[in-house]
Amino acid sequence: MSDQPRRPRKPAKPYRRPKKDPVRILAFEALRAVDERDAYANLVLPPLLRRARESEDFDARDAALATELVYGTLRRQGTYDAVIAACVDRPLREVDPPVLDVLSLGAHQLLGTRIPTHAAVSASVELARVVLGDGRAKFVNAVLRKIAQHDLDGWLERVAPPYDDDPEDHLAVVHSHPRWVVSALWDSLGGGRAGIEELLRADNERPEVTLVARPGRATTGELLDEEAAVPGRWSPHAVRLTEGGEPGAVPAVAQGRAGVQDEGSQLVALALAAAPVEGRDRMWLDGCAGPGGKAALLAALAAQRGAVLLASEKQPHRAGLVAKALAGNPGPYQVVAADGTRPPWRPGSFDRVLVDVPCTGLGALRRRPEARWRRRPEDLDGFAPLQRGLLRTALESVRVGGVVGYATCSPHLAETRAVVADLLKQFPDAELIDARPLLPGVPDLGEGPDVQLWPHLHGTDAMYLALIRRTG
Ligand SMILES: C[S@@+](CC[C@H](N)C(=O)[O-])C[C@H]1O[C@@H](n2cnc3c(N)ncnc32)[C@H](O)[C@@H]1O
Repeated sequence: MSDQPRRPRKPAKPYRRPKKDPVRILAFEALRAVDERDAYANLVLPPLLRRARESEDFDARDAALATELVYGTLRRQGTYDAVIAACVDRPLREVDPPVLDVLSLGAHQLLGTRIPTHAAVSASVELARVVLGDGRAKFVNAVLRKIAQHDLDGWLERVAPPYDDDPEDHLAVVHSHPRWVVSALWDSLGGGRAGIEELLRADNERPEVTLVARPGRATTGELLDEEAAVPGRWSPHAVRLTEGGEPGAVPAVAQGRAGVQDEGSQLVALALAAAPVEGRDRMWLDGCAGPGGKAALLAALAAQRGAVLLASEKQPHRAGLVAKALAGNPGPYQVVAADGTRPPWRPGSFDRVLVDVPCTGLGALRRRPEARWRRRPEDLDGFAPLQRGLLRTALESVRVGGVVGYATCSPHLAETRAVVADLLKQFPDAELIDARPLLPGVPDLGEGPDVQLWPHLHGTDAMYLALIRRTG
C-alpha cells in the first residue's frame, strides 16, 4: 500500500436520479422498434399505449401526446435529419441510432409542437439520461440548444436549397419526403408548385378516422350519433369522426356491421359495383381481398342485389381477416386462400372483378408515417410483375361484358397507368370505361377515363381506379 497521502476528495455532487417521463420513454421505445425491427408505428404503438394506460399515472392526454410525438417525429424525419446534421460535427450515419432518436424527438418538440423551448430541451435531456446515460445526455443537451436557436422556418431557410436552384430537393427537405417520392408524386399530379406543395403538406397531416356503414347492416344515422361524427364527403355510407376517438368502441364497428375505411377505398368499391355490365350480374370476385375492407363493402352491396362475392387472398392469415370482416354479411359469400395469378376458378366466371393489388402504398403516407423512408425506387420493379399478373388473371376471370376494377393505394404512374396500358395491349378485346360518372359529386377527377384521388383535393388516400370492360 502506498503511504502517499490521498488527495482530499471533493465533496461529491448529490446524485440526482433522472426523472422518469413515461410519455417520452414510450415514444422513444416506439421509435426504436420502428428503427430496429422495421416495425410499423401503427402496429407498435397501440399495445405500448394499452400497457401504459394500465398504470394510473398515464391518462388519455398522455396517450395523445405520445402518439403525436411518435407520428410527428417519423413524418418530419427528413426535415429534422437535415436540421440535426447542421448541428452535429459528424455525418448522421456516425451518430448512434438511439441517440438520433432522442435528438429527433427533441427536434420535433422544439420545431413541430407548442411545447415551450425550455421544457422541450429539459424533458429530452432527462429522457437521454434515462435511456442513454449521463455522457450522451450532455451531447443531446448541446445539440438541442443549437436547434433551439431558430424556429422551423428559420431552419428551413438555412438547410433547404432554394426552390429555384432545385425544386424537388427544396420540397423534399421542406415537406419531409424522400426526393424520389416528391418526383414521382409530382409526375402523377402534374401542374405547378402550388398543387404539389398542397399534396406534400396533406401527407403530413393526421387523417381523420372514417367509418363505413355497411349497407343493409348499419346506417350512417346510427354512426352519426357518435361524438363529433359528421357525414362523409363523398360516399353515402361514410361517417367521419372529426376528433378521432376509439372507433373500436362504436357498437356497430364492434359488431362488424360497420368498419373503419377511408372514403377513397369506399369509392373504389362503390364505383365497381355501379359500373354498367351487360346481362347477368350474379358473380363478383375480389381477387386481393386481405384484410377485407373493400370485400366487406362489396359483399354487403352484392347481398342487396342478390349477387355472391368470392373473396380471394393469397396469404392464409389475411384470408382469415377477410373471413372475420365478412362474418354476418346478409347475403352469400365465400372466402378462399388462393394465388390470384394461378386461380382455382375457371376463366370467364365473374361479372365484376376487383383487384386491389399490392403496391408501394405511396398514396397512404398520412397513415403510415415511416413508409416513405422505407420504400425504395427499386420496390417498383418488385411489384411490377405481380401487378401485371393479377390484372391479367382478373381480365381472364371476367366474362365478356363484365367489368374489372384495377385499384392501387399508390398514385405512382409505374403502378397505375403503366400497368393498365401494358395489359390493354395484351387484351385487344378490353376497353377502359369512364370511371368518373361512377363517383357522383366528386370533383377534380382529371381527364379520365381512370380516376386518381388525392389527399389534398379529396381528403382521401391517393387511391387509383381504372375500370376495364371485356368486349369479347
Ligand atoms: C392492397 S392489399 C388489398 C386490400 C384490400 N382490398 C382491402 O381493401 O382491405 C393487397 C392484398 O393482396 C394480397 N396478395 C399479394 N399477392 C397476391 C396474389 N398473388 N394473389 C392474391 N392476393 C395477393 C396481399 O396479401 C394483400 O392482402
